[in-house]
Amino acid sequence: MTKTILLLPGDGIGPEVLAEASRVLDALRKNHGLDVSTQADSLGGAAIDRYGVPLADETLAKAKESTLVIMGSVGGPKWTTVYKHRPEQGLLNLRKGLGLFANFRPAKCFPALADASSLKREFIEGLDLMIVRELTGGVYFGEPRGISTLPDGQREGLNTQRYTTSEIHRIAHAAFTAARQRARRVCSVEKSNVMESGLLWREEVTALHAAQYPDVELSHMYSDNCAMQLVKFPKQFDVIVTDNLFGDLLSDAAAMLTGSLGMLPSAAIGKLDRPGLYEPIHGSAPDIAGKGIANPCATILSVAMALGMQLGRPDLAERVEQAVSAALNDGYRTRDLIAGPNAKIVGTREMGEAIVERLKG
Ligand code: IPM
Ligand code: MN
Repeated sequence: MTKTILLLPGDGIGPEVLAEASRVLDALRKNHGLDVSTQADSLGGAAIDRYGVPLADETLAKAKESTLVIMGSVGGPKWTTVYKHRPEQGLLNLRKGLGLFANFRPAKCFPALADASSLKREFIEGLDLMIVRELTGGVYFGEPRGISTLPDGQREGLNTQRYTTSEIHRIAHAAFTAARQRARRVCSVEKSNVMESGLLWREEVTALHAAQYPDVELSHMYSDNCAMQLVKFPKQFDVIVTDNLFGDLLSDAAAMLTGSLGMLPSAAIGKLDRPGLYEPIHGSAPDIAGKGIANPCATILSVAMALGMQLGRPDLAERVEQAVSAALNDGYRTRDLIAGPNAKIVGTREMGEAIVERLKG
């Protein structure tokens, strides 16, 4: 049966990078027998402009009926004063609405980019780590929350960090399962020296590991130390499992190790056989939006993750990764990537074309 993909370009550079991902899908359809159909809708600021809300009910309904969703990015200065509906809320509602509790954020170093990192080559070459971020709980969604005025006239901003055992178990299962396909090492990251939610996290992960995953090596780390270890010696990690907020911070740091935020994809997964959401880790980069210079690789590599995880075509996932790697080897660089000798600085379109070209045959 034909699989269906909902494309949500979103805001800023989102539409530009998603256009290249679409071209990759077209090429796979034409030359490699990929059986998918696509439709598009609005998310974030674009949805506020079109529907008055950052995620319309009909868009969520379309997402639920699709095999999977591919997104560009959301947010931008145009909507920062829209206090009632922020563009980012559209993405959060989509994650929650689809029940996407497990976010896989790989940080992998392409050989051609080993000198593009701010760390020395020997710390980066061969880097391949996976952050498994809890995505529908914690302080992002915890109640109570809000801004209120206290009896003494001060204003108070309030958010709640909260995790239940079942939320911890399902994300830990996702991490241990991922580790079994990799180097079988999981580092669980929290701040149990300060936070009760972190203490519960550590206890539950430890118990689950002992009961069900003795073949996987488990270690624990405080989140501040993990941030430090990531920039000190990132190759010590295989899988990192952590909460929503720490995962947000640590995945940006891990992404940058590989040379650019513009290279890294992500996949958000919920229940088996339900639609997942595939998106680049980077944001909407309003400063370069519309200029045709954004790096489409992260979005194209998100297509690769979708091919492997939900479209039943791990062979094509591999091909797309190889095509990206080949374009980099041949010197193609968008401006966010530090260019070595014989680099060709290209725009979004040309980078997409170079990758599509290398998918042929
Ligand atoms: C991310 C982004 C989002 C997050 C924003 C846009 C809501 O930073 O996907 O990492 O904080 O989760
Ligand atoms: Mn983030």
